[in-house]
Amino acid sequence: MLLGLAFLVSSVLFILSLRGLSSQQTSRRGNVYGIVGMAIAVGALATSSQVEGYAILLPALALGGVIGYLMAARVAMTSMPELVALLHSFVGAAAVLVGYASYLDPALNQGSAVFLVEVFVDVFIGAITFTGSVVAFLKLKGSVSGKPLLLPARHLFNLGLVGGSIVLGVLYVQAGGTAGLAQLGVMTVLAGVLGWHLVMAIGGADMPVVVSMLNSYSGWTASAAGFMLQNDLLIITGALVGSSGAILSYIMCKAMNRSIWSVIFGGFGGDTGKKKAAGPAPEGEVAEIDVDHTVSALRDAKGVVIVPGYGMAVARAQHAVRELTSLLRERGAKVRFAIHPVAGRLPGHMNVLLAEADVPYDIVLEMDEINEDFPSTDVVLVIGANDIVNPGALTDESSPIYGMPVLEVWKAKQVVIFKRSRGAGYAGVDNPLFYAENAALLLGDAKASMDKLVSALKG
Ligand code: TAP
Repeated sequence: MLLGLAFLVSSVLFILSLRGLSSQQTSRRGNVYGIVGMAIAVGALATSSQVEGYAILLPALALGGVIGYLMAARVAMTSMPELVALLHSFVGAAAVLVGYASYLDPALNQGSAVFLVEVFVDVFIGAITFTGSVVAFLKLKGSVSGKPLLLPARHLFNLGLVGGSIVLGVLYVQAGGTAGLAQLGVMTVLAGVLGWHLVMAIGGADMPVVVSMLNSYSGWTASAAGFMLQNDLLIITGALVGSSGAILSYIMCKAMNRSIWSVIFGGFGGDTGKKKAAGPAPEGEVAEIDVDHTVSALRDAKGVVIVPGYGMAVARAQHAVRELTSLLRERGAKVRFAIHPVAGRLPGHMNVLLAEADVPYDIVLEMDEINEDFPSTDVVLVIGANDIVNPGALTDESSPIYGMPVLEVWKAKQVVIFKRSRGAGYAGVDNPLFYAENAALLLGDAKASMDKLVSALKG
């Protein structure tokens, strides 16, 4: 009764947490709700009559807590997707182990077909999540090539693995009791290969969507485990994670102009983007600008839009950017930030950095809110962004990012692009923006350039 009540409170807190996390202003509160909800859930379960093995539980909780804390405290913002992928692999592995443990526990496994199916589904999704997440982690880390592995007849191969697992599932249920252990074991291997292959078939550019998709899978596997263990909280939490991960994947797919099916089924249409050589090379010269000329442009500007990208995160320039923003606003300029949905390397990456630097929320606008304002903007500062301001995404059908909506900065009067070289961005394609007459590169580390701008403006 008390446990049920605690689970109910935790479920409500998790829902409030998700709600809080949906906006920058309330995200801190959302996190607190999540932490409290989880603390109540773990505390209530650990002190309930169901639990006896404290000699194992307490050291495991302490060790896991310390490892988790250290990992989260040490991770660089740019390595966050890797950490998330690794954590998903733990969920997958836990689901498989819990599945086997429940199957072999006579108190839980009393031979009912429903229970056997629950175990089977839990282990199946868990194994896919485990190997898929490990591959995603290795790809993001660069230990495995980001290139998609496109085997001939790969969809048939996937279908074979799924079909084989279903046949094994039927035999396993028919065997009853614990007599289907061999079938369960072979299915675990097949599902593991499926997870590995699904993610191997996905190109580097789609990895963020894959990570969010694996997040969704880890939720569904937890939900399946909840049915198996008759734990309502696990069912609810799993469903929340599963559905929010699926919704996020859909939103990201839309923002990157990818088909959600290509991500779920691995490599579907993965070869639609041809190499940049096929596209027309941009014409004209790439102009450069120095700090002094940038300062005089900014001194005259009434409307300034700042477009942050991955390079701002690498340079850790967000605090200097905020300082520049304050200086320009004090001078009477209207300064706003334009955020592309996939700027940086993880959803909300730029929002987090700007919030950390105390940039006021009301001047941070989404792409759809600001794209129409570029023609009336005097100066756009592109800080370490590239793909998200590439006009080729709208015009060059051979570009791998063709179809992705972008920030149309080239429509402003003047564009200054902060970057260290003439190199390409994440998608590896040339950017015609650099050749535009109203655009110029301010070469150098974004933080160093920003610091120079700030001191020149102060002077
Ligand atoms: P990118 O296209 O990756 O461009 C980043 C730019 O920053 C590069 O041109 C780089 O040029 C510059 N840069 C790097 N370090 C710098 C430094 N210290 N100082 C100054 N400039 C620096 O980034 P974006 O425009 O933000 O686009 C994001 C891309 O990542 C998209 O293609 C997106 O699909 C993909 N992606 C997004 C996500 C999510 S969910 N946000 C996740 C994974 C991938 P130099 O090397 O010349 O300096």
